[in-house]
Amino acid sequence: MRIASGEHDRLVPVASMPQTEAACFGVYNRPKFGRCRLARLSRLTQTPADSALANQQRGRSALAADSSLDVECEMEKKKEMEKEMQMVKIDVSTTLAEAVNAFPHLAHEFERRSLDYCCGGARTLGEACALLGVDPQVTVVELSALAATSGSGSGSAEWTTMAADVLVDHLEATHHRYLWSEMPRVTALVDKIVSVHGDRHPELVEVASCFGQVRSDLEPHMLKEERMLFPMIRDLATSTGMPSFPCGSLQNPISVMLSEHDAVGDLLTRLRGLTDGYTPPTDGCASYAACFAAMAELEADTHLHIHKENNVLFPMVVRLEAERAAMK
Ligand SMILES: [Fe+2]
Repeated sequence: MRIASGEHDRLVPVASMPQTEAACFGVYNRPKFGRCRLARLSRLTQTPADSALANQQRGRSALAADSSLDVECEMEKKKEMEKEMQMVKIDVSTTLAEAVNAFPHLAHEFERRSLDYCCGGARTLGEACALLGVDPQVTVVELSALAATSGSGSGSAEWTTMAADVLVDHLEATHHRYLWSEMPRVTALVDKIVSVHGDRHPELVEVASCFGQVRSDLEPHMLKEERMLFPMIRDLATSTGMPSFPCGSLQNPISVMLSEHDAVGDLLTRLRGLTDGYTPPTDGCASYAACFAAMAELEADTHLHIHKENNVLFPMVVRLEAERAAMK
């Protein structure tokens, strides 16, 4: 598997930021909003002038200054977003991962078109369309139209601007937490529909078995990330030197995680086939529909989850580790 490049070069390490700015806005920040925030911060921390006149003038002009600063900041944000939207144009050479990072709302469309942007995120749109046997030029035109309309003004995905330690916190708080609570619920639902509909739909036994395999792969995988890999990534991201890890380079556990992601991706593809794209039969009950809807949602969430790890977090960690090693 090839690791696609992310968009992390725009991150500004805390060491290069003014101290007050760094303290207020966390360990990393995007340069594009830095000037606005600095302007606000310097106004808040200014020592008041001795002169009463100055205070009066400041009072009279405060509302106008606030208003003009807000307008200036909004204009700056708008300009930067427009520039960003212009910089990322979808064409046949755009990788699926790059497209979703730039236009996160396209993830749903990629799901609908069976464009694998997580484990297959390093493929270009041209390559992915060839695999599916669809016209790449038509696909590019349609996706560009969607990106230009519903994504207008939204900018790149938030996860592309997070530092590694912030991103692992985000992964645990969103995707891991979701899976820990959702997988037992889906297991209960699939067991229920097997017991009620299994006689008329014997294929459900295989559906239950496949989902059980997804769960038994994902649970130990998440434990490995939460207890071993993610703490090491936090150490790497927050230390000034190169920490030493029992596993050697972090590329070692990362390569294991990548192969486990591939295995889960294959299982989800099989589950989709067994359920006819999560379509319940006409004689299915409400639990049947709820179970398949939950599986479809779990599949989409896991694709996004794996995309963030494979195509954003892991390349960032590999680069960070190389930078730290070079400083030795
Ligand atoms: Fe993972």
